[in-house]
Amino acid sequence: MSDDVQTPRVASNWRPRHIAIVMDGNGRWAQQRSLPRTAGHREGAKAVRRVVEACVERDIAVLTLFAFSSENWCRPRREVEILMNLFLTTLRGEIRRLDVANVRLRFIGDHRAFSPTLQDYIRKAEQRTMRNTGLTLVIAANYGGRWDIVQAAKQAAADVAAGRLSPSDLTSETFHRYTCLADLPELDLFIRTGGEQRISNFLLWQLAYTELYFSERLWPDYSAGDLDAACAAFASRQRRFGQTGEQVMQDQHA
Ligand code: IPE
Ligand code: IPE
Ligand code: MG
Repeated sequence: MSDDVQTPRVASNWRPRHIAIVMDGNGRWAQQRSLPRTAGHREGAKAVRRVVEACVERDIAVLTLFAFSSENWCRPRREVEILMNLFLTTLRGEIRRLDVANVRLRFIGDHRAFSPTLQDYIRKAEQRTMRNTGLTLVIAANYGGRWDIVQAAKQAAADVAAGRLSPSDLTSETFHRYTCLADLPELDLFIRTGGEQRISNFLLWQLAYTELYFSERLWPDYSAGDLDAACAAFASRQRRFGQTGEQVMQDQHA
């Protein structure tokens, strides 16, 4: 294969528009240093700031971060409490900087389980940044991919019951509109840090054709360079969406 055939594939794909990250490995980072797990979560919050800044600098359209899964309530009560406090204090500490950087904040997940203070702050942070036009930063908190599909199904069922939607009009396109990230660009690149190779109930519906990338790096150590390595791996892949490689090449030359 000659270079001039390869170049367009790499060039058209080189930067993902929408990246989602499972920020894993905080506990192990702390354990390696004989620190409490919560020290890893605090250090992880600093990595969030680094990676958000890197995404702003690289003109990424959307970054979706898995902050707390619907299963993380099963952790020791003290760890959950500390995570909730860290969530609130990080938000409070970062909101001005995010707003100045033109970042639009969005939260996905079932927030009814959170304290009224946190729920209120989430709403205020969204309102304060809703007109920003730079990076859209989506924080998945008390989020689960199955929950997302079920809440979409409930909304669709309610529309059918109210006569607003006919069951025969329910296609994957119309169903997609009820899911959490429907108004944002398709998810291009999924990154999981911390060495585990699983989805852990993250964006199940949205991951259908996302490129998956797994990094050994523990989240508190994650850097802009690691993000660049993931983006470079993404750029080197050929996304075929069911077509043959030859068809994709032809489309890119058309
Ligand atoms: C990810 O790090 C942070 C959250 C799930 C909130 P972990 O706390 O899962 O870290 P490990 O996997 O135990 O190292
Ligand atoms: C996934 O990590 C959730 C977040 C990073 C918020 P976990 O550490 O909870 O996942 P499992 O339990 O190892 O699958
Ligand atoms: Mg983990």
